[in-house]
Amino acid sequence: MKVIVIGATGNLGTRVVAALLTHGHSVVAYVRSSKKLESLLPASAFRQITVVEGDAKNSVSIKKAILDANCDAVVNTAGLAALPPWGKSDLPEIFQAVLNGVKEAGSDRKKPLRVWFLAGMGVLYYPGTESMLSNYIPIYLEHRKNFSLLKSLPPNTVDWSMLCPATMTPESPDVNVPSKSSHGALIANAAYLPLWQDSWVKHVPLLGRVLMCAINAPRYTTTLEQNADFIATDLESFESRWSGTTVGIIDGSK
Ligand SMILES: NC(=O)c1ccc[n+]([C@@H]2O[C@H](COP(=O)([O-])OP(=O)(O)OC[C@H]3O[C@@H](n4cnc5c(N)ncnc54)[C@H](OP(=O)(O)O)[C@@H]3O)[C@@H](O)[C@H]2O)c1
Repeated sequence: MKVIVIGATGNLGTRVVAALLTHGHSVVAYVRSSKKLESLLPASAFRQITVVEGDAKNSVSIKKAILDANCDAVVNTAGLAALPPWGKSDLPEIFQAVLNGVKEAGSDRKKPLRVWFLAGMGVLYYPGTESMLSNYIPIYLEHRKNFSLLKSLPPNTVDWSMLCPATMTPESPDVNVPSKSSHGALIANAAYLPLWQDSWVKHVPLLGRVLMCAINAPRYTTTLEQNADFIATDLESFESRWSGTTVGIIDGSK
């Protein structure tokens, strides 16, 4: 597929570019600074991709980049959610602009684009409920509004999925483009975390679910490379089982 990565200079974005190349996709990187991207990628990888400079808050420029390069899919890793519940970042503005750009590009080419967005595990539901995990540990709340925007989209405007990792750590400080993917596979689940560990602690009055979230959260640490590989693998096909849903993941190799 031809995939545009918005935010390709970030921790995840650089790994997504690398994973897409490993999986044989054509890559367009949408970044604020081509020079910065060049300094982050292996020279051989940088030579294989098309770079477009632009701001992720500019929906017109995003739409143009998608249509000019005739992209089929988008991965948005631009912006970083604020951690405290009162925190504010650029992410909501970026998310809205990317969504508008993607929607309008889909409308012009008369076919919705396949898009991966990023959020955090807080927008997934507590097992057996439709109450978000961030109701119990209220951090990175900006992702909730982004998820609401996706849920309110009219049908057939954007073919979206929202990956919801907990903390992602690098496997290596440098970005590598292996000829074959060798990362421990992730186990994924729609809307809920896979392999949640239940315990009597959930019955503790008032705090049971908060404690359950705190106990489980560290089990869901994954690597940036694993998440990048997960997205690049999904984009090998136009049909995805993750269309229209949030996706929870755990490292299946641990
Ligand atoms: N890292 C984690 O452990 C983790 C866990 C769960 C969820 N997430 C979510 O995953 C996403 C990616 O995280 P990350 O760690 O890769 O973030 P990051 O390293 O901070 O990368 C953010 C990217 O956004 C780009 N960006 C910011 N504002 C922009 C703008 N106005 N125009 C164009 N590009 C812009 C940055 O470009 P510049 O290089 O030009 O600044 C950078 O490439 C975020 O939404 C984050 O909340 C991260």
